[in-house]
Amino acid sequence: MKNWLEGLKGKVSFNEPLAKYTTFRLGACAKLLAEPKTPDDLIFLLSRAREKDIKPLVIGGGSNLLIKNKVPLAIRLSSQEFTRFSVDDEMAKAGAGLSIYALIRKALENNLGGLEFLSGIPGTVGGAVMMNAGVSWPEKKEAGDFIEELEVLDKNGNISILKKDSLRFGYRSSNLEGLILTSVVFRLEKKPRARITEEIKDFWDYRNERQDLRGFSAGCVFKNPDGDSAGRLIDSCGLKGAKIGDAVVSRKHANFIINRGKAKPADVLRLMQIIQRKVYEKHGVKLEPEIKIV
Ligand code: EPU
Repeated sequence: MKNWLEGLKGKVSFNEPLAKYTTFRLGACAKLLAEPKTPDDLIFLLSRAREKDIKPLVIGGGSNLLIKNKVPLAIRLSSQEFTRFSVDDEMAKAGAGLSIYALIRKALENNLGGLEFLSGIPGTVGGAVMMNAGVSWPEKKEAGDFIEELEVLDKNGNISILKKDSLRFGYRSSNLEGLILTSVVFRLEKKPRARITEEIKDFWDYRNERQDLRGFSAGCVFKNPDGDSAGRLIDSCGLKGAKIGDAVVSRKHANFIINRGKAKPADVLRLMQIIQRKVYEKHGVKLEPEIKIV
C-alpha cells in the first residue's frame, strides 16, 4: 500500500502507541502519527487528511487527554518551527508545541513576568491556550488573559491571525475548538528576575502541596461546578483511594485519578462514572469532565 503521506517532511510512524505522549501514560494507538516539520507541511498533511476524510487529533502535551479509541491520525507539533520562542519588548511569541515549562523558563530569561501561575502545569502552549488553563489561587488567572494574538489553521488549511478582540475564553474553554493553533503572542510585563522566580516557586509549592504531581495523571479530571470544588465534593463522598484496576482516586487531591502503571482507558472511565454517580447521589451535582476523552 502506498503511504498517502508520502512527500510529507517530518517524522511519520505507523501503529504508534500514544500512551507515552500522554501524562496519564495510557491510551490507544495512532494508526499514523505525524510530526510535520513546518506550517507548510502541516497544511499539506491537513489537505491529505481531508481528501481521505480523516479527522486528525493534535496531541499537544497530552496532559488533559484520555485516548479511548484508536486514532486514525495523530499530529504532534514537536519540530523546531513549532517550538520557537522570540521576544519583542513585552510581547513574547511562542510556538504552539513549546512546553509550558520552557515557555515560563524563556520568559524568565527575558525578565518577562505574567505567566508564573502556569508553573507546574504540564502540557504545551497550544493546549494551555485552547483549554484556557488557569488557577483559582490566590485569584483567578487564566492563559487567555495574556494573549495579544494567535495564529491558527482551520481544517481546510487556511491560516489566520486572530487578534484578542475576536478571542473568547471561558472556564477551561475557548472559541478555538476545531482549529489548530500554531503560535501565540503573549503580552507580558518586565519584572525583576528574582520576583518572577519567587512567584514561580510560590505557584509550584501551592500545587505541589495539594496535588499529586508525581503520579501519572491528567490533572483535574472534572471541572469545578459553579462556586465549589470538584475535589472537595469527591473527597466528601469518601472516594479517595477508590480504584478500578490500576486507576486510583488520588489520596492527595480527590479530583486527580492516578494511573498506578497498568490502568486502561476503560478503568479510568468506569472510575469516573462511579465518581459522578456518588457525587450526584450525595450532592445533586453533575460533574462534567475537564479532560478530553477521544
Ligand atoms: N479539597 C478537598 N479535598 C480534596 C481536594 C480539595 O477538600 O481532595 C478542598 C480544598 O481543601 C480547598 C478546595 O477544595 O478548600 C479547593 O481545592 P484546591 O485549592 O486544590 O483547588 P481546586 O478547586 O481543587 C482548582 C483547579 C486546579 C488548579 C487549582 C489551584 C479546576 C478543576 N481545578 O482546583 O486546576 O490547579 O484550582 O489554582 O479548575 C486542572 O485544571 O487540571 C487543575 C488541577
